[in-house]
Amino acid sequence: MSGTGQSDDPRELKAGGTLQGRVKVPGDKSISHRSLLFGAIAEGTTTIDGLLPAEDPLSTAACLRAMGVSISPITDGGIVTVEGVGLDGLQEPAEVLDCGNSGTTMRLMLGLLAGRDGRHFVLDGDASLRRRPMRRVGQPLASMGAEVRGRDGGNLAPLAVQGRQLKGTVIGTPVASAQVKSALLLAALTAESPTAVIEPAQSRDHSERMLKAFGADLTVGGEMGRHISVRPGATLQGQNVVVPGDISSAAFWLVAGALIPGADLTIENVGLNPTRTGILEVLEQMGARIEVLNPRDVAGEPVGDLRVTHGPLKPFNFGEQIMPRLVDEVPILSVAACFCEGESRISGASELRVKETDRLAVMARQLKAMGADIDEHEDGMTIRGGRPLKGAVLDSETDHRVAMSLGVAAMLADGNSSLARSEAAAVSYPSFWDELERLRC
Ligand code: S3P
Repeated sequence: MSGTGQSDDPRELKAGGTLQGRVKVPGDKSISHRSLLFGAIAEGTTTIDGLLPAEDPLSTAACLRAMGVSISPITDGGIVTVEGVGLDGLQEPAEVLDCGNSGTTMRLMLGLLAGRDGRHFVLDGDASLRRRPMRRVGQPLASMGAEVRGRDGGNLAPLAVQGRQLKGTVIGTPVASAQVKSALLLAALTAESPTAVIEPAQSRDHSERMLKAFGADLTVGGEMGRHISVRPGATLQGQNVVVPGDISSAAFWLVAGALIPGADLTIENVGLNPTRTGILEVLEQMGARIEVLNPRDVAGEPVGDLRVTHGPLKPFNFGEQIMPRLVDEVPILSVAACFCEGESRISGASELRVKETDRLAVMARQLKAMGADIDEHEDGMTIRGGRPLKGAVLDSETDHRVAMSLGVAAMLADGNSSLARSEAAAVSYPSFWDELERLRC
């Protein structure tokens, strides 16, 4: 199973010091999953430059290999090659497909497999993934004729998928979730008739961009790209994919650079897709000093380098509207709020409760252990910042983004901290702790 952290000794986190230098964050996790999945069902070879060599994409690759897809070894800095088996070429696996800690793997896999007529699949994951809601994918897929079964009426893994010929339909998704949307787009590729997916608000659009580049017959329309239509029939062709750095990993350096006195960091090659840049808007609202350098387009995604320097910050207030564009950055933003004078508010964030952990509860619990003044609400938190935090005995509670957020908080505390289950960071950023040491001065 994935190494979300059961066996290590707590990591000692020293308070104080600053961060300076250049850092290249690893490849975008969302784009990495998609490049493997779409490459697997394309005709011919796909090459992936910059694939994130972390536990979550490794879970996706392992599932695909178990269904007969040849994927070259995934190493740091190496180009990964995927030999596509075509839209319907996945074989019935002999073993259970282990999605590890990865919600993206399980949800996108459900959409991919539901239409594999005549084949049967079982999907499972670690303890965290077994608690996460899957009905949000299974239910709309059922309206296309899919058969997905599992605990809690098909909501919880382990899940069994009996592949069927699906039919196209019009689906309004109840949550703005790129995982749900992408699962339905994958299912739509081989349905009998066209499918339309309408989101309540636009979620990250990497699937739409990349599916089009692979040759899918897909159109995006409606207000703010909320309406996506797929006509089945087009085959996908292998592509050369270049994966930009993950803005959700850059977020830790952006907040650390803005908060820590004397900090000056340049984060290279960061993906700046507008469906992901909510964090930059909030940091701008706070008065953070961030410059976008060398903006460019890399293989259909906007990219730039970001320079951040320390300066005074104001509290923030954000809600439901911006949430899909910064959903993974709420933990590190809750840290930012602790270190700026005044009251910050996060609302419309109930999705955080069904991530790898209940991130509202876990961040509130861990930051309170450092002395933070936080009220947790059903859909967010109120954080009164400006009072010093003290070093404490901390725990990632197995969540990668919590681990890294607490790593930044600990640097700013009065007194050293320790962090249990710190290696959870390897789910999305295996070199995070080494980079923190390298940049510290
Ligand atoms: C992801 C979508 C988001 C995000 C997750 C990755 C994706 O989840 O939190 O880390 O790659 O599609 P939701 O779709 O549940 O919002």
